[in-house]
Amino acid sequence: MAKEINILYISLSGNTRDFVRRLTDYYQDLGVVVNSINVREKPDRQKLTAPFVTILPAFLNGGNGRDNGYSEILSPALGHYLAYEGNYHRCYGIIGSGNRNFNRQFALTAKQYAKRFGFPYLTDFELRGSDNDITRIGQLLLERSQAFEEEQA
Ligand SMILES: Cc1cc2nc3c(=O)[nH]c(=O)nc-3n(C[C@H](O)[C@H](O)[C@H](O)COP(=O)(O)O)c2cc1C
Repeated sequence: MAKEINILYISLSGNTRDFVRRLTDYYQDLGVVVNSINVREKPDRQKLTAPFVTILPAFLNGGNGRDNGYSEILSPALGHYLAYEGNYHRCYGIIGSGNRNFNRQFALTAKQYAKRFGFPYLTDFELRGSDNDITRIGQLLLERSQAFEEEQA
C-alpha cells in the first residue's frame, strides 16, 4: 500500500493552503499519497483515525508575544477539531507558520498548541514557505510519521 501523509491545517488567506498544495505535488513524485483537511473549508469535525500532522499559521491580536498579545484569533476552530473525540492523540506533531515581522510572536500559536495538547513542535516556515522548506519538511514528515507508527504498533 502507498505511504500516506495526513495533514490537518487551517488557512485563512491561502498561504498555508498553497504550501500544502506544493507539498502534495512533491509527495506525488515520490509515490506518497496526501490526505489533507483545511478546517476553514471543511469545518464539520470528524474523528481522525490515522496519524496526522497539524499545520497552523499564527493569528494573534497584537502585542509582543511575551507579556501580551497571546490571544489566538481566527484559528480556534483548529483547536476544537484537535480536541474533538481526542483527535490530538493521533497527531505526531505540529508545524508553525507566520510572518517573521511579528518577531517574538512568529509562529507562536503552534508553540502554544504543542504545550496545550502535548505533541511535539516539529518546525516552522514563513508565509508560503520556500522550495527548500517543501523538501525539508517533506522529508521530516516521512521520518516522523514512520517513527510514530512504529511507536504505536
Ligand atoms: C490579523 C493577523 C494577525 C497575525 N498575527 C501573526 C502573529 O502573531 N505571528 C506570526 O508569525 N504571524 C502572524 N500573522 C501572519 C500570518 O500567520 C501569515 O500571513 C500566514 O502565512 C497566514 O496563513 P494563511 O494565509 O494560510 O491563512 C498574522 C496575520 C494576520 C492577518
